[in-house]
Amino acid sequence: MIGNEKPRVTMDEITALAKRRGFIFQSSEIYGGLGGFFDYGPLGAILKRNVKNAWWREIVELRDDVVAFDSSIVMHPSTWIASGHVANFSDTMVDCKNCKHRFRADHLPSLAKCPDCGMKDTLTEPRAFNLMMQTSVGPMEDSASRAYLRPETAQGMFVNFKNIYQSARKRPPFGIAQIGKSFRNEITPGNFTFRMREFEQAELEYFVPNDGNDLAAYEEWVTARKKWYSDYGVREDRLRFYELTERERPHYAKAGTDVEYLFPWGWGELESIAHRGTYDLDAHMALSGKDLQYFDEASKSKYTPILIESSAGMDRTTLTMLVDAYDQETIKDADSGKETSRVVLRFHPKIAPVQVGVFPLARNKPDLVERAKGIERDLRAVARTQYDEGNVGQLYRRQDEIGTPFCIMIDFQSLDDGTVTVRERDSMRQDRVEAARLRAYLSERL
Ligand code: GAP
Repeated sequence: MIGNEKPRVTMDEITALAKRRGFIFQSSEIYGGLGGFFDYGPLGAILKRNVKNAWWREIVELRDDVVAFDSSIVMHPSTWIASGHVANFSDTMVDCKNCKHRFRADHLPSLAKCPDCGMKDTLTEPRAFNLMMQTSVGPMEDSASRAYLRPETAQGMFVNFKNIYQSARKRPPFGIAQIGKSFRNEITPGNFTFRMREFEQAELEYFVPNDGNDLAAYEEWVTARKKWYSDYGVREDRLRFYELTERERPHYAKAGTDVEYLFPWGWGELESIAHRGTYDLDAHMALSGKDLQYFDEASKSKYTPILIESSAGMDRTTLTMLVDAYDQETIKDADSGKETSRVVLRFHPKIAPVQVGVFPLARNKPDLVERAKGIERDLRAVARTQYDEGNVGQLYRRQDEIGTPFCIMIDFQSLDDGTVTVRERDSMRQDRVEAARLRAYLSERL
């Protein structure tokens, strides 16, 4: 609930749809689940992959100044000392001595009364809790074998800075991009896949020369990221780019912007874009004793480049796509005048897990079934397709609920004149199209 206004969709509706249609399930559900872990079902896996591909396409493939990277999840433990995570990556937590529930202190309106059981003066003193997940490497389990599951992908790119710029023959300004899993032992995971303990990040580390154009580079990335969300159809009035004040930024950062989406419970951060100065490379140089400065062959001089970072959560972006696409509307049958309600996910066609559904008008007519299956197979070359059969109303209802932009119906006329009906998801308009033209028709629209 935002203010007194009723949200257009509740998280319960999203969670139920996600389970019913195979987008997202609770992890290890048959054992009661595990807090902060989720699995992506057959459609969710495609949806999330499409979101990641859309990011990758824009950040890596369509540019010549960003290179790809994929670092290991477990890194040398010194990485996390240099980065400050061992000392500082913690939240303050409090426990209720009565109901035993645990809370993040900064999420509570007051520390006087437990928000769950309502008892007064039962909360412990706030204490720091490090969010890094630990593991051990090798056969001995002792403090020397202790390692961490990375809490962000970024550090892999910092420690490899020299390997990357030398092997890829890049000079600043240039960037390194990576998509991968990160782990944080969140005190209170919640809001479905918004705050998880295992999640995926897409991070861009863009290194620029120390020549006074660093803030302009930062602004360019903010603009580029605005355009990306808009290109993939996220509603502008539900998205905001919040510029951090000096007090809200770390001391070394000259600027920072949080990208936030208006979820049913309120605004939530999807991405942070930050000007990080030379902080990260400096920290690794200091602890490792290795030189990570950029050596400019032309001028035979060295300098530490300034870093602009864009760090987006892929699960949060996928959740945004689901919530933003969700719509419920009343439709009136043109002939009978009867009103029904439909749930429709208005995904951008590039994001939609299924782009084209293909059905025969009747499942017990072998000619229609065969023709429909043939068309579906043929269209796999240009779209993500799905063949289905059954009651016509239910077929459309199901495809609307999974956000399929186009549905093709093969009927008796198709057998006579080679045309099919194409129904567009949002307008529900139906076009009669020659089957032979379908590839071109869809390619223009997807
Ligand atoms: N390297 C910078 C960095 O990691 P961050 O703001 O801590 O910055 C970036 O994280 C993004 O990662 C967040 O904006 C969010 O989308 C995602 N993220 C962080 N913690 C998360 C969690 N517990 N569950 C899901 N996504 C998370």
